[in-house]
Amino acid sequence: MAFVLAVTGSAVGLGNIWKFPYIAGQNGGGAFVLVYLACVVLIGMPVMMSEILIGRRGRRNPVATMELLGKEEGSSANWKWVGGMGVVAGILILSYYSVIAGWTLAYIVKSATGVFAGASAEAVGAEFSGFVGNWKAIGLTHTIFMALSVFVVARGVERGLEQAVRFMVPALLILMLLLLLYSINSGYFGQGVAFMFTPNFELLTWGSVLAALGQAFFTLSIGMGAVMAYGAYLPEETSITGASAAVVTADTGIAILAGLAIFPLVFANGLTPADGPGLVFNTLPLAFGQMSGGVFFSTIFFVLLSFAAWTSAIGLMEPAVAWIVEHFHKTRAQATVLIGGLIWVLGFGSVLSFNVLADTTFLAGTLFDNVDYLTSNIMLPLGGLLITVFAGWVMCRNSTSDELGNSGMLFKAWRMLARFIAPIGILIVLVNAVL
Ligand code: TRP
Repeated sequence: MAFVLAVTGSAVGLGNIWKFPYIAGQNGGGAFVLVYLACVVLIGMPVMMSEILIGRRGRRNPVATMELLGKEEGSSANWKWVGGMGVVAGILILSYYSVIAGWTLAYIVKSATGVFAGASAEAVGAEFSGFVGNWKAIGLTHTIFMALSVFVVARGVERGLEQAVRFMVPALLILMLLLLLYSINSGYFGQGVAFMFTPNFELLTWGSVLAALGQAFFTLSIGMGAVMAYGAYLPEETSITGASAAVVTADTGIAILAGLAIFPLVFANGLTPADGPGLVFNTLPLAFGQMSGGVFFSTIFFVLLSFAAWTSAIGLMEPAVAWIVEHFHKTRAQATVLIGGLIWVLGFGSVLSFNVLADTTFLAGTLFDNVDYLTSNIMLPLGGLLITVFAGWVMCRNSTSDELGNSGMLFKAWRMLARFIAPIGILIVLVNAVL
């Protein structure tokens, strides 16, 4: 249970409530959502199981685990580079994740002080653009968020975290249901549902398929060794399949709820689904601003969202911190301050992407867009590909069946997915979208 809570805490975060709706909106909804769900089940699930079983067998940080198992299974110590790529991915992701998490912190204060009470769509939109347009303001909230994250990780985490996640996820769920109720009453619920679930495959490009795959990896926290790092603490007798299924279900459920709450509001207020990273901040405060008790609910909502982001930030730092501690024999506090400081500095690239450097675009867009694209759409899928190849082909059948329990059908299904479907699927999408 503690393990499921820790992994759920890392999986449920900005990816579900901030990122899923805006990426789905940018990619036209319908077909994107179906591809995303297929990726979660056919690729996300086997990758998560592979990561956990590797982590539990290695019982070290992801770099050392991949090195050890690479040798133990008669392959090569070079598998450590998969762990290494995960360490880098975690650092890069947190550099922008922390900036967005800073926005949610600011929105606690804005909500509590009644900024959104009865506000119009224009006013809510202006509040958002005024805020992110000010690099000092979002630089400050990024700094506060990183400081909070470094503080917990440095102190050795996890104590108390479990209890907190146990409360946070259900509370978040209740508030999402409240928003859903509001959406259903908005008169535009049907339009929102249609946008999310009516697929138009003609509009689906390889770029959108890759975005769906990348989102599946991002939201489940897989492909970078984070779940592997948690797996290192997993007791022998816990079912990896059961734990993975629980996490995947909770995570996917919250994302879909977020979409169902947000898209009707988009249409009801004449906004556009392809609004980008501001989507959640331009819609949900609007709904809260119009309901009775809105100031209270809005404040609680952003507290919970900040909290969800915080438990994810801890997971994003874990591979890097564990590696520094074990490899360079530093204390946990030293390693955290070092990694946190690096992430804090890198984060200013994303801070500036929303204001001073908003018009400086290349490849995928702003600096923020590029860091996101590189990590979610390239590094995580590539990591997942290598992890499934390792678990499915490099590790011998007995090693994996030891970990997963050779319970006939389930083990065969996992092995089929890990050996063929997941790696081949990822490869096809990467090749078509990138080349
Ligand atoms: N899954 C997190 C979210 O949805 C983000 C994330 C990606 C993450 N990779 C991770 C969190 C690794 C912890 C560890 O918000």
